[in-house]
Amino acid sequence: MTSLEHKGIQRNTDKSGIKPLLSVLQGKKIERTPLWLMRQAGRYLPEYRQIRAGVESFLELCYTPKLAVEVTMQPIRRYDLDAAILFSDILTIPDALNQNVTFYEGKGPVLKRLEDKNDVIHLSLDHMTYHLAPVYETIRCLSSSLPPAVTLIGFAGAPWTVATYMIEGGISRDFSRVKQWMLDDKLFQPLIEILTEATTQHLLSQIAAGAEVIQIFETWAGIVPEDEFRRWVTEPIMKITKAIHESYPSIPVIAFPRGAGIQYEAFAIETNVQAVSVDSSVPLTWIIDHLQPNVVVQGNLDPSVLVAGGNIMREKVQRILDILERGSFVFNLGHGIVPKTPFEHVTQLIDVVRA
Ligand code: CP3
Repeated sequence: MTSLEHKGIQRNTDKSGIKPLLSVLQGKKIERTPLWLMRQAGRYLPEYRQIRAGVESFLELCYTPKLAVEVTMQPIRRYDLDAAILFSDILTIPDALNQNVTFYEGKGPVLKRLEDKNDVIHLSLDHMTYHLAPVYETIRCLSSSLPPAVTLIGFAGAPWTVATYMIEGGISRDFSRVKQWMLDDKLFQPLIEILTEATTQHLLSQIAAGAEVIQIFETWAGIVPEDEFRRWVTEPIMKITKAIHESYPSIPVIAFPRGAGIQYEAFAIETNVQAVSVDSSVPLTWIIDHLQPNVVVQGNLDPSVLVAGGNIMREKVQRILDILERGSFVFNLGHGIVPKTPFEHVTQLIDVVRA
């Protein structure tokens, strides 16, 4: 018996045996605030670092179902979380489209960047499903091995964010290349169309394999100028969401247009997503008035507060709960867990949310 069960709380299940996260995203009212954390699997966990040290490359980890399942399960074994997120990466799409992608220790991803029309023409969807088959196999294994109350989240990067990596060749400081491509849209429009199609197929295959919720990561929404936002951020995500709901009307979609500011509001309405994941810069009182009337809200503790832990973290978590638990709400961070996070702080955090 775990210490939680000892206190009369059943681990990972609510009284009716339903999945708390899935229920809230489907618009049901439940007692428990669902909780999961972006990047809940990763380098802050010693057991992740151990598995990572045993493989040649990060992508090998993503494409080996046995290892990807294990790494997805690590935070689920350690903590009382309401969701498992598939262990993979948003850059498996360019990799599957034939663009060379390598992850370097301490440097992040490096891609053979797109230079011209030829490079765009050479991107091919032909082998994508075959290339990503190990990802779908990972999902199938997870869906039969997860505890019954834990929701399985599949994901992809949004077209704009994935395009930034493809054009910049990796992490960028000023996004100057991708912005030139965006302004001269001859190549950018077809690239975004290819990515919208690839992302749709990838997400539909994830759902077919057993993903119960989809999260779309638009990490770099905040660098798109206001007058271009609808075309490159909102519209592609709207199309992907529509395609998902045509085939799977009951699968909830969470979108994370990080840094979108007041554009979160129109974005949430126009895309028809069930939930938006909100970054730490968005004021909580604004969220109550402008987002919660229309969508479920997920967020938004600053990941550095989780690094700090202790009383300062308890206060800041409590403030978020006091304000956002009045509406539909999923607790999460405003961005992913950072590697230097002490893993004990995650237990402290969960205790406050569950109290
Ligand atoms: O637990 C989880 O969240 C699931 C796995 C997951 C990873 N990446 C694993 C990963 C998810 C959901 C992602 C999404 C992702 N990948 C995003 C969107 C979310 C965000 O953080 O903004 C982005 C932009 C990427 C691209 C990416 N992957 C970068 C820029 C880097 C290098 C920077 C870094 O954090 O190291 C990665 C590598 C990566 N993806 C790691 C992990 C665990 C670390 C690599 C390693 O272990 O060697």
